[in-house]
Amino acid sequence: MGVQVSVVSPGAVEADVLAVPVVEPAELPRNGALAEPLRGRLEALASAGEVSGEAGEAVLVHLEDGLGVPRVAAAGLGRREELDADAIRTAAGAVARSAGRFGGTIAWLLDPSLDLPPAEQARAAVEGAVLGAYEPGRWKTSKRRPHPLERIVLVGDGSDVSEAAARAARVAEWANQARDLANAPANELTPEQLAARASKIAGEVEHLSAESLGPDGLRELGMGAFAAVAQGSHNPARLIVMRYSPPGAKAGVKLGLVGKAITFDSGGISIKPSLYMEDMKGDMAGGGAVVEATGAVADLGLPLEVIAVVAACENLTGGGSYRPGDILTAMNGKTIEVVNTDAEGRLVLADALWYARQEGATHLLDLATLTGAMDRALGDMYAGVFANDEAWRGEVVAAGEASGDHAWPLPLHRRYRHYIDSAFADMKNQNVRRQAIPAYAAEFLRQFVGEGPWAHIDMAGTGFFTWPRPDYLAQKGGTGYGVRLIVELATRLAA
Ligand code: BES
Ligand code: MN
Ligand code: ZN
Repeated sequence: MGVQVSVVSPGAVEADVLAVPVVEPAELPRNGALAEPLRGRLEALASAGEVSGEAGEAVLVHLEDGLGVPRVAAAGLGRREELDADAIRTAAGAVARSAGRFGGTIAWLLDPSLDLPPAEQARAAVEGAVLGAYEPGRWKTSKRRPHPLERIVLVGDGSDVSEAAARAARVAEWANQARDLANAPANELTPEQLAARASKIAGEVEHLSAESLGPDGLRELGMGAFAAVAQGSHNPARLIVMRYSPPGAKAGVKLGLVGKAITFDSGGISIKPSLYMEDMKGDMAGGGAVVEATGAVADLGLPLEVIAVVAACENLTGGGSYRPGDILTAMNGKTIEVVNTDAEGRLVLADALWYARQEGATHLLDLATLTGAMDRALGDMYAGVFANDEAWRGEVVAAGEASGDHAWPLPLHRRYRHYIDSAFADMKNQNVRRQAIPAYAAEFLRQFVGEGPWAHIDMAGTGFFTWPRPDYLAQKGGTGYGVRLIVELATRLAA
């Protein structure tokens, strides 16, 4: 992994572009960091109306008169009273994207007068730049970005700034790897390839192991729900298990991360409409985030035990597919009537959640692109969080807020259980009524989480963009959603 991060004082900036944050309306940093004659030049542009400070604006200005850097970018933050980390991420993302045309080093001026501590500014600027520079067109035969992002220079001071910035770069790069996984098409990223990625990570980071089980292993464990979803594809399923066990881990805590990794979701026999079906290569985004976030947690050396369990398979149609009406027995012994083969995520998660709890997870969190209704409800901005424990749900929501992977609490209640009552089995996997789809899906999952805190993140809207979002995640496709949240959550849990 590559992006270098450093912190320098205002006099010592060397970069292809110096980003100067501008608050709307056209207000330059108040501190002395922005020296004359640069300040004068930018003030002239501001009074000419060429720089406004509007959120996401990045106005590039060439400097040819020995001002230390060849260019500045006036990076719009929006209004001062509305400033948050996302505004900085978005501004930095815009700068990093335009820098692709001329150079690989960007400098970002920290402004202590802003209502966000410099270390938080640094974290957000680095995340915004690294995530904003992400290029999804890996399969294009012509290179669209001549200058990959190589270095980010924070202009300011403080050891907390340099620590926050370095860490942010690492985590954001793990998130970009999760985007690569989500963007990889299903003919490349098979369940076996995802397992191979987990093994590769385990080989590169200390105190982390990875193993995986195939179809026979699933049957032996009694994972009848997961195995049924997988049986329609020629690409064999993989139950991917990563274990991180560092010396000095916090006692009594084992974070259990569970991910849905449907490498392609056609819907199965209950086949999906064809419009945007290609986006269902991203139905493994939750599992991909779990794999990469586990790598990130180990890379950062966080002192807590983690078990990651990712259920990877394809949901296809064929002579071997499971069918509506099939009755499955999950690993915990409960029976499930399949009424819709497109409600497959909850089936694979049922067995993965139970497995993680059996393996000693004290705190469970699952991430899944579970229901299209979640996207309809909260769109691409917030995931939904359901939990059987209020405190744990609060931790998850707080970690989301602090990390930029926003998540909003939604209700979980046993009275949603009747939606999945079946005439034949312990439960069914869908209700044809169009009510509360994400909530009864969560209630379904609750049947498999055993004792102890568990939270479920439905990231159907945030995990993979059908349309680009007008901010630092300005690309169609995988977003890396969940990687930053998990790292933040693990950091807090380890403390
Ligand atoms: N992977 C889909 C959910 C999804 C849809 C994610 C759109 C991202 C974008 C999931 O497996 C699914 O098909 N869910 C069904 C559930 C229904 C049958 C209860 C859905 O959302 O329609
Ligand atoms: Mn589905
Ligand atoms: Zn799915």
